[in-house]
Amino acid sequence: MSIRLGDIAPDFTQDSTEGEINFHDWLGDSWGVLFSHPKTFTPVCTTELGEVARLKSEFDRRNVKVLALSVDVAADQKKWEADIAETQGHEVNFPMIADHDSKVSGLYGMIHPNANNTLTVRTVFIIDPAKKVRLTLTYPASTGRNFEEILRAIDSIQLTENYKVATPVNWKNGEDVIIVPAVSDEDAKKRFPQGWTAKKPYLRILPQPKP
Ligand code: BEZ
Repeated sequence: MSIRLGDIAPDFTQDSTEGEINFHDWLGDSWGVLFSHPKTFTPVCTTELGEVARLKSEFDRRNVKVLALSVDVAADQKKWEADIAETQGHEVNFPMIADHDSKVSGLYGMIHPNANNTLTVRTVFIIDPAKKVRLTLTYPASTGRNFEEILRAIDSIQLTENYKVATPVNWKNGEDVIIVPAVSDEDAKKRFPQGWTAKKPYLRILPQPKP
Protein backbone atom coordinates (compact mmCIF):
# COMPACT_ATOMS: atom_id res chain seq x y z
CA MET A 1 0.00 0.00 0.00
CA SER A 2 1.57 3.29 -1.03
CA ILE A 3 1.81 6.29 1.27
CA ARG A 4 -0.74 8.95 0.39
CA LEU A 5 -1.02 12.64 1.25
CA GLY A 6 -2.55 13.12 4.70
CA ASP A 7 -1.33 9.74 5.99
CA ILE A 8 0.73 9.67 9.18
CA ALA A 9 4.36 9.10 8.13
CA PRO A 10 5.27 5.59 9.29
CA ASP A 11 7.52 5.62 12.34
CA PHE A 12 10.73 3.57 12.43
CA THR A 13 13.94 3.08 14.35
CA GLN A 14 16.99 2.53 12.16
CA ASP A 15 20.76 3.03 12.15
CA SER A 16 22.13 6.22 10.57
CA THR A 17 25.39 8.07 10.03
CA GLU A 18 24.63 9.81 13.35
CA GLY A 19 23.66 6.67 15.29
CA GLU A 20 20.26 5.08 15.79
CA ILE A 21 17.31 7.34 14.92
CA ASN A 22 13.71 6.97 16.00
CA PHE A 23 12.02 8.96 13.25
CA HIS A 24 9.11 10.53 15.13
CA ASP A 25 11.23 11.38 18.19
CA TRP A 26 13.96 12.79 15.94
CA LEU A 27 11.42 15.01 14.13
CA GLY A 28 10.04 16.38 17.39
CA ASP A 29 8.02 19.52 16.59
CA SER A 30 9.82 20.16 13.31
CA TRP A 31 8.76 19.67 9.72
CA GLY A 32 10.72 16.94 7.97
CA VAL A 33 12.03 15.99 4.55
CA LEU A 34 12.82 12.29 4.18
CA PHE A 35 14.48 11.52 0.85
CA SER A 36 15.92 8.36 -0.62
CA HIS A 37 18.76 8.02 -3.09
CA PRO A 38 19.95 4.86 -4.78
CA LYS A 39 23.45 4.11 -3.54
CA THR A 40 26.68 5.28 -1.98
CA PHE A 41 29.54 6.28 -4.32
CA THR A 42 27.23 7.13 -7.24
CA PRO A 43 27.57 10.37 -9.20
CA VAL A 44 24.09 11.93 -9.19
CA CYS A 45 23.60 11.17 -5.48
CA THR A 46 26.95 12.79 -4.73
CA THR A 47 25.79 16.05 -6.31
CA GLU A 48 22.38 15.93 -4.60
CA LEU A 49 23.76 15.43 -1.11
CA GLY A 50 26.27 18.25 -1.59
CA GLU A 51 23.40 20.51 -2.65
CA VAL A 52 21.25 19.60 0.36
CA ALA A 53 24.25 20.35 2.60
CA ARG A 54 24.62 23.75 0.89
CA LEU A 55 20.91 24.49 1.44
CA LYS A 56 20.83 23.30 5.09
CA SER A 57 20.40 26.83 6.48
CA GLU A 58 17.37 27.31 4.17
CA PHE A 59 15.77 24.16 5.60
CA ASP A 60 16.62 25.30 9.15
CA ARG A 61 15.01 28.70 8.52
CA ARG A 62 11.77 26.90 7.66
CA ASN A 63 12.00 24.63 10.74
CA VAL A 64 12.59 21.59 8.51
CA LYS A 65 14.89 18.69 9.41
CA VAL A 66 16.36 16.76 6.48
CA LEU A 67 17.03 13.03 6.54
CA ALA A 68 18.58 11.11 3.64
CA LEU A 69 18.33 7.35 3.15
CA SER A 70 20.03 4.65 1.11
CA VAL A 71 20.12 0.89 1.28
CA ASP A 72 23.69 0.79 2.64
CA VAL A 73 25.56 0.44 5.89
CA ALA A 74 26.54 3.56 7.83
CA ALA A 75 30.27 2.79 7.56
CA ASP A 76 30.08 3.09 3.74
CA GLN A 77 27.93 6.21 3.90
CA LYS A 78 30.47 7.80 6.28
CA LYS A 79 33.34 7.01 3.89
CA TRP A 80 31.37 8.47 1.00
CA GLU A 81 30.74 11.73 2.92
CA ALA A 82 34.42 12.58 2.51
CA ASP A 83 34.02 12.36 -1.30
CA ILE A 84 30.91 14.56 -1.17
CA ALA A 85 32.77 17.25 0.81
CA GLU A 86 35.77 17.03 -1.52
CA THR A 87 33.86 17.18 -4.80
CA GLN A 88 30.87 19.38 -3.85
CA GLY A 89 32.57 21.75 -1.43
CA HIS A 90 30.06 21.17 1.39
CA GLU A 91 30.37 18.85 4.39
CA VAL A 92 27.30 16.66 4.84
CA ASN A 93 25.49 18.28 7.78
CA PHE A 94 22.45 16.01 8.19
CA PRO A 95 22.04 12.29 8.93
CA MET A 96 21.64 9.49 6.40
CA ILE A 97 19.54 6.45 7.30
CA ALA A 98 21.62 3.31 6.78
CA ASP A 99 18.78 1.12 5.53
CA HIS A 100 20.97 -1.96 5.06
CA ASP A 101 18.03 -4.36 5.53
CA SER A 102 15.55 -2.26 3.44
CA LYS A 103 13.24 -1.97 6.46
CA VAL A 104 12.43 1.72 5.99
CA SER A 105 12.50 1.59 2.18
CA GLY A 106 9.89 -1.16 2.34
CA LEU A 107 7.73 0.82 4.76
CA TYR A 108 7.78 3.88 2.49
CA GLY A 109 7.61 2.08 -0.90
CA MET A 110 10.97 3.51 -1.93
CA ILE A 111 11.98 0.43 -3.93
CA HIS A 112 10.17 0.13 -7.25
CA PRO A 113 10.99 -3.42 -8.37
CA ASN A 114 10.21 -2.80 -12.04
CA ALA A 115 12.81 -0.02 -12.02
CA ASN A 116 15.35 -1.78 -9.81
CA ASN A 117 14.59 -4.50 -7.30
CA THR A 118 17.28 -3.69 -4.74
CA LEU A 119 18.06 0.03 -4.91
CA THR A 120 15.74 2.85 -3.84
CA VAL A 121 14.48 5.31 -6.43
CA ARG A 122 14.62 9.05 -5.64
CA THR A 123 11.61 9.66 -3.39
CA VAL A 124 10.82 12.73 -1.27
CA PHE A 125 8.35 12.93 1.61
CA ILE A 126 7.55 16.31 3.18
CA ILE A 127 6.11 15.75 6.65
CA ASP A 128 4.44 18.34 8.89
CA PRO A 129 4.85 18.71 12.68
CA ALA A 130 1.73 16.53 13.20
CA LYS A 131 3.68 13.81 11.28
CA LYS A 132 1.28 13.98 8.34
CA VAL A 133 2.67 13.46 4.84
CA ARG A 134 2.10 16.69 2.88
CA LEU A 135 3.96 16.00 -0.37
CA THR A 136 5.47 12.99 -2.10
CA LEU A 137 7.50 12.82 -5.26
CA THR A 138 9.38 10.12 -7.12
CA TYR A 139 12.18 10.56 -9.63
CA PRO A 140 14.16 7.90 -11.47
CA ALA A 141 17.72 7.17 -10.33
CA SER A 142 19.20 8.94 -13.33
CA THR A 143 17.46 12.30 -12.72
CA GLY A 144 18.86 14.50 -9.97
CA ARG A 145 16.19 16.41 -8.06
CA ASN A 146 15.81 20.19 -7.84
CA PHE A 147 16.02 20.97 -4.11
CA GLU A 148 15.16 24.64 -4.73
CA GLU A 149 11.80 23.29 -5.93
CA ILE A 150 11.44 21.30 -2.72
CA LEU A 151 12.04 24.49 -0.70
CA ARG A 152 9.48 26.28 -2.89
CA ALA A 153 6.93 23.54 -2.20
CA ILE A 154 7.63 23.78 1.55
CA ASP A 155 7.03 27.55 1.39
CA SER A 156 3.72 26.95 -0.37
CA ILE A 157 2.58 24.25 2.08
CA GLN A 158 3.55 26.38 5.09
CA LEU A 159 1.64 29.37 3.65
CA THR A 160 -1.46 27.20 3.29
CA GLU A 161 -1.00 25.93 6.82
CA ASN A 162 -0.52 29.38 8.34
CA TYR A 163 -2.76 31.63 6.22
CA LYS A 164 -5.17 29.43 4.20
CA VAL A 165 -3.76 30.65 0.92
CA ALA A 166 -2.68 28.57 -2.08
CA THR A 167 0.04 29.36 -4.59
CA PRO A 168 -0.54 29.66 -8.36
CA VAL A 169 1.36 28.18 -11.26
CA ASN A 170 5.11 28.86 -11.22
CA TRP A 171 4.74 30.87 -7.99
CA LYS A 172 7.89 32.06 -6.30
CA ASN A 173 8.29 33.21 -2.71
CA GLY A 174 7.13 36.84 -2.46
CA GLU A 175 4.66 36.71 -5.36
CA ASP A 176 0.87 36.99 -5.14
CA VAL A 177 -1.14 34.09 -3.69
CA ILE A 178 -4.73 32.84 -3.90
CA ILE A 179 -7.31 32.48 -1.12
CA VAL A 180 -8.21 28.77 -0.84
CA PRO A 181 -11.72 27.92 -2.07
CA ALA A 182 -12.75 26.57 1.37
CA VAL A 183 -12.52 30.10 2.85
CA SER A 184 -15.79 32.02 2.32
CA ASP A 185 -15.75 35.72 1.39
CA GLU A 186 -17.10 36.45 4.88
CA ASP A 187 -14.24 34.57 6.56
CA ALA A 188 -11.74 36.05 4.08
CA LYS A 189 -12.77 39.60 5.13
CA LYS A 190 -11.68 38.75 8.70
CA ARG A 191 -8.48 37.02 7.63
CA PHE A 192 -7.45 39.54 4.98
CA PRO A 193 -8.84 42.96 6.04
CA GLN A 194 -6.62 44.65 3.45
CA GLY A 195 -8.81 43.00 0.77
CA TRP A 196 -8.10 41.07 -2.41
CA THR A 197 -8.72 41.20 -6.15
CA ALA A 198 -11.43 38.81 -7.36
CA LYS A 199 -10.79 38.02 -11.06
CA LYS A 200 -13.63 35.51 -10.69
CA PRO A 201 -15.57 34.71 -7.50
CA TYR A 202 -13.33 31.64 -7.10
CA LEU A 203 -10.07 33.37 -8.12
CA ARG A 204 -9.25 35.74 -5.27
CA ILE A 205 -5.73 37.11 -5.41
CA LEU A 206 -3.75 39.02 -2.79
CA PRO A 207 -0.14 39.77 -1.92
CA GLN A 208 1.67 37.02 -0.05
CA PRO A 209 0.96 37.37 3.70
CA LYS A 210 4.03 38.11 5.80
CA PRO A 211 4.59 36.62 9.28
C1 BEZ B 1 23.63 8.11 -9.51
O1 BEZ B 1 23.40 8.46 -8.36
O2 BEZ B 1 24.43 8.67 -10.22
C2 BEZ B 1 22.89 6.94 -10.10
C3 BEZ B 1 22.52 5.88 -9.31
C4 BEZ B 1 21.87 4.80 -9.89
C5 BEZ B 1 21.58 4.83 -11.26
C6 BEZ B 1 21.91 5.92 -12.03
C7 BEZ B 1 22.57 6.99 -11.46
